[in-house]
Amino acid sequence: MTQWIDACATDDIDEEDLITWEHDGHVYAIYNTEKGFFATDGMCTHEEQSLADGLVIDCVIECPLHGGRFDVCTGKALSAPVSVDLKTYDIKVENGRIYVDTQ
Ligand code: FES
Repeated sequence: MTQWIDACATDDIDEEDLITWEHDGHVYAIYNTEKGFFATDGMCTHEEQSLADGLVIDCVIECPLHGGRFDVCTGKALSAPVSVDLKTYDIKVENGRIYVDTQ
């Protein structure tokens, strides 16, 4: 079942950047990329590291701890040491607000 939750304003995220957003005890990462807005889990799948300070280049997030990279559109793990994909979440943008489907 879809559950759209108002997460932030589109203006809250700089281009080629991300913010982390906590809801119901879960941390999400929301990205502003050249292909639009995307959401994934906010913690790296390698170790318990927040992606908040990660580097966004095109549609790739680089983990700040060991430099593992993920495709933010698909969540796919792209380079060592990460091998487990990030979970992704649907997003919709309405009236300048970003809603995340947290289900
Ligand atoms: S914790 Fe992210 S690559 Fe190691």
